[in-house]
Amino acid sequence: MKVTEEPLITVMDGPWTPEGLIREIVKSGTQEDPFYVMDLGEVVARYHRWRELMPRVEPFYAVKCNDDKLLVSTLAALGTGFDCASKAEIELVTSVGVAPERIIFANPAKLPSHIRYASAVGVDVMTFDSEHELVKIKQLMPRAKLVIRIRCDAASAQFSLGVKFGCDPVTEAPRLLKLAALLGLDIIGVSFHVGCCITETAVYGRAIALSRTLFHIGHKVGHKNMHLLDIGGGFPGDLQSSIREVAEVINSSLEEHFPERTVRVISEPGTYFANAAYTLAAMVYAKRTVVPKECSDIAEKHTMYFINDGVYGSFNKVTFNQSVCAVPVNDYEAPRSACSVWGPTCDGVDCVVASARLPALSEGDWLLFRDMGAYSIAIATRFNGFPIPTVRHVIDARLARVLQERGPLKASHFVAAPAAWRSTDAEVECPAISAAAPSPFLAVLGQC
Ligand SMILES: Cc1ncc(COP(=O)(O)O)c(C=O)c1O
Repeated sequence: MKVTEEPLITVMDGPWTPEGLIREIVKSGTQEDPFYVMDLGEVVARYHRWRELMPRVEPFYAVKCNDDKLLVSTLAALGTGFDCASKAEIELVTSVGVAPERIIFANPAKLPSHIRYASAVGVDVMTFDSEHELVKIKQLMPRAKLVIRIRCDAASAQFSLGVKFGCDPVTEAPRLLKLAALLGLDIIGVSFHVGCCITETAVYGRAIALSRTLFHIGHKVGHKNMHLLDIGGGFPGDLQSSIREVAEVINSSLEEHFPERTVRVISEPGTYFANAAYTLAAMVYAKRTVVPKECSDIAEKHTMYFINDGVYGSFNKVTFNQSVCAVPVNDYEAPRSACSVWGPTCDGVDCVVASARLPALSEGDWLLFRDMGAYSIAIATRFNGFPIPTVRHVIDARLARVLQERGPLKASHFVAAPAAWRSTDAEVECPAISAAAPSPFLAVLGQC
């Protein structure tokens, strides 16, 4: 796997925050490479919130978003399913002990060898959106349980997937359902993906209504076994975001169009589970002051800061117009001035933040970036020879005990925090581990 894995999870016996830990880690001055602090408790909290707000919808984590093995293992312990797009992702998920029934092979255009592999290991459920894929599956795995992927795009999405995948629900899907019936293939349901980082929540209502129509058409042409609705991904994943509004749209649309509980509803959230749990720390290792000149595009004096991670590493999303916020690890109160933040490669597009106001930073100072778990390390390259950041996984002691009891994480995955890390942020109350009230996460772990 591309992810640089830290095999051990550090157990914190007391309040902590990713920011506090990062401050502690860089304090020694020996750290030079960028790194993540990954909070497993955030993943558990998000699982809990999902089950509370959308009890009918089973999450199947989209591994492509971040294939960190310890993230996958944590979600496996919580009981999620998994959306895999390739043989390697199926291998990863089954390697931590997940049963093949908990996997959907949700790539509508699959390599033949990957279909053969899925068949060999018992991953039977897979998506398709074309006649060619149906014929291929008929040849390679005629007993597959098929889910037709339709297109229904949100009015606005950071990443539209409809341009590549999903057949037209009106002009193409009925014909494909008929063809599948003629080929004797087993269609068990409908899936869609409205796009990543969407802002229009009503799209889920439209897509669910379209899916219902296709259940009727499928039934009419002979698919009597349709019982799966897969509502895809697109859910927000930032620390400050909430799925409450989108959950309301989904819950009411399901009640309207799929009131019968015989239809199983699954989803494929990636960003939702991965993003907020990862905080990136990157070091300023060079800087340059630029002043306005005639005939130049520089409007005011500003400082260019060069950090050891960039758009060829963790910040790929910046090239898709997603912005990130650089936060100095120290000196929050210092006066701010105009600056820009650049990645380490020799490419001019390697700009992480084009315009910001930060306190004056020196070489050796650190910046942190929150909400960095989705489509970051999974996409990162070693372009120009710069390393992919390592991940330091951290968890509260009580959650560690519960996760251990559930497997696949074992005692050997955990290690006590070094003395310097303890009570790094005693002033910050960590809601997940408040001693006053029993942790809701422990409760939900007990239930699942
Ligand atoms: C088929 C499929 N499912 C799920 C996802 C995850 O989407 P998100 O990160 O928006 O939850 C993706 C993202 O590309 C996808 O292609």
